Amino acid sequence: MVGYAFMGAAHSQAWRTVNRVFDLPARVRMVAVCGRDAEKVSAAAGRLGWDEAVTDWRALIARDDIDLIDICTPGDSHAEIAIAALAAGKHVLCEKPLANTVAEAEAMTAAAQAARANGARAMCGYNYRRVPAVSLMAQLVAAGRIGTIRHVRAAYLQDWIVDPQFPLVWRLRREIAGSGALGDIGAHIVDLTQFVTGQRITGVNAMTETFIAERPLPAGSSGLSATTDDGGAVTGAVTVDDAALFLARLDGGAVATYEASRFATGRKNGLTVEINGSRGSVVFDLERLNELQFYDATVPTAEQGFRRILVTEAAHPYMSAWWPPGHIIGYEHSFTHQARDLIEAVATGTDPRPSFEDALQVQRVLDAVEQSAKSGIWAEVRKPHPAP
Ligand SMILES: NC(=O)c1ccc[n+]([C@@H]2O[C@H](COP(=O)([O-])OP(=O)(O)OC[C@H]3O[C@@H](n4cnc5c(N)ncnc54)[C@H](O)[C@@H]3O)[C@@H](O)[C@H]2O)c1
Repeated sequence: MVGYAFMGAAHSQAWRTVNRVFDLPARVRMVAVCGRDAEKVSAAAGRLGWDEAVTDWRALIARDDIDLIDICTPGDSHAEIAIAALAAGKHVLCEKPLANTVAEAEAMTAAAQAARANGARAMCGYNYRRVPAVSLMAQLVAAGRIGTIRHVRAAYLQDWIVDPQFPLVWRLRREIAGSGALGDIGAHIVDLTQFVTGQRITGVNAMTETFIAERPLPAGSSGLSATTDDGGAVTGAVTVDDAALFLARLDGGAVATYEASRFATGRKNGLTVEINGSRGSVVFDLERLNELQFYDATVPTAEQGFRRILVTEAAHPYMSAWWPPGHIIGYEHSFTHQARDLIEAVATGTDPRPSFEDALQVQRVLDAVEQSAKSGIWAEVRKPHPAP
């Protein structure tokens, strides 16, 4: 694994847990973790359960006793690490968004396609697909339970940079993060809604906004937290969006709205998706991730209404491996499910989803959003739109 902070910890937890929960055709051995600071990565290895710590990711790729490289670094290093790992015949799990630009994502996808011929698998970490209620949502939609999809309404809202004195962490710098709220959280709702509907976004009309243009430089930072040590006197420019909003058309005829913001005061990690169809609706709210709201318009009028499905039955996706019905799960379980599906795919020689092709298509949507926000007019998403 490369990177050991927020996602590194979430992925480590998944690798530690997955064989204890799921019956799988292969066993995970957590061989080595890579970071740039020898002391810190060594401490992280002990804390997170890795056998060894190294300071150059190329050392991981060169080893024969490592089969899979898990990339948990910011977007500026995804392409270089993933392409080198795939060329060396390693399987790759890469955090989202796949890359910082469409060109990088295309190169990564080409590398994944070449590596596939040699049996190496590549997957991108859009983990919310693996929340059981989201998987159930996709199953209900695919089974026609809400009929023809008319509306998709998605929002991913956070508030961690509302304070203008919050420092200029890597997520606010285009050269490291690629984009702001758009690629960080907007990318998740693009992938999630395309996964659930089975439809691809074909075009967008967007606006983006950067509310705070200048911020203090950080003394130290990791993930979503940071400190300043000079009272915030030295500042730098914010080079990404703070919020991105867009309308979209999907290739199955649905229309959609998307909102991604880091300025939604009071919203910590508020991800909501509602889908309205000709025969019903489904609603997911990450803050109630064990639940799915389902409105079935085919039952007698007098009995119609949104009902809450508690997604903890053994009949629900992934849940038979966990606890008795009603014994709820949380955020980290989506990463364990991601690890499970990747191991299954690697061991059985099938392609895991979301593939790099899927993640490249998300990248093209993000690119269209930025183009439209700049031009003020509709932007088509570059083709091809691979099958969902
Ligand atoms: N799936 C999700 O829900 C989710 C959530 C958060 C972040 N992410 C994604 O995960 C990735 C990492 O985000 P994070 O929040 O974990 O960031 P983070 O700042 O918490 O951790 C980044 C880690 O990468 C290391 N690193 C940075 N550049 C490196 C390099 N060149 N070589 C080796 N190590 C390097 C840092 O030292 C740190 O350990 C990003 O792509 C982000 O978009 C995904």
